Amino acid sequence: MSDAMLEPLWLGVLAPGCEARLSDIDLRGNRPPWSEASFAGEFSNQVSTVLGCRFRGEIIGFAVVHYVHPQAHILNVAVAQEFRSLGVGRRLLGFIIETLRGKECETLSLEVRRSNSAAQNLYASIGFEVIAERLRYYPDDGEDALVMRVPIECALKIFKQDNFVDPRKKLLPKQLLSSLLSNTNV
Ligand SMILES: CC(C)(COP(=O)(O)OP(=O)(O)OC[C@H]1O[C@@H](n2cnc3c(N)ncnc32)[C@H](O)[C@@H]1OP(=O)(O)O)[C@@H](O)C(=O)NCCC(=O)NCCS
Repeated sequence: MSDAMLEPLWLGVLAPGCEARLSDIDLRGNRPPWSEASFAGEFSNQVSTVLGCRFRGEIIGFAVVHYVHPQAHILNVAVAQEFRSLGVGRRLLGFIIETLRGKECETLSLEVRRSNSAAQNLYASIGFEVIAERLRYYPDDGEDALVMRVPIECALKIFKQDNFVDPRKKLLPKQLLSSLLSNTNV
């Protein structure tokens, strides 16, 4: 596919003011969803970074990452429903890993629902492994969480093998997007 058929995605650190959009994406992705106040709290938390992915200016995915040297933990990550399975989640993870490398972070971890095989597949493809289980972790329905972790160097090697060193350069196919855009207000 030539570059002329592709459109760029913006990946970067988000600033306060987008809490309503983040909460809206989360409402359709995670249980229990975070409130706008929860996202606002992350913007004022010194150890927290809120990273996002925009398409045509609109936020279509985000991740909340806590970093206390030398370990980072993803507290929340989601891609807007209409933009899933297009590679946005992978690019977001790649951007997180690139950002953490710059901070000399050693490992990245997260919790994921036992039933969430889509997310587990994504994490496993980047080198995450299950290191623990937290029984009845989720307060809404008591589902167990798996704790997954990857050494940053290991994730970087996998991205390099995939020619995926700089996820900011990755693009979405225009044909896929045109069908998506007719169903969204982006
Ligand atoms: C999990 C999530 C962030 C993945 O984002 P995404 O943009 O859809 O994922 P990508 O398109 O980048 O897919 C990357 C990989 O994830 C896995 N994956 C994604 N969607 C999948 C699905 N429906 N079923 C199985 N595996 C899936 C695949 O391994 C895929 O790689 P492939 O395309 O080479 O097969 C997204 O599905 C989401 O927001 N889900 C709801 C919220 C959530 O579950 N967050 C995670 C909480 S821990």
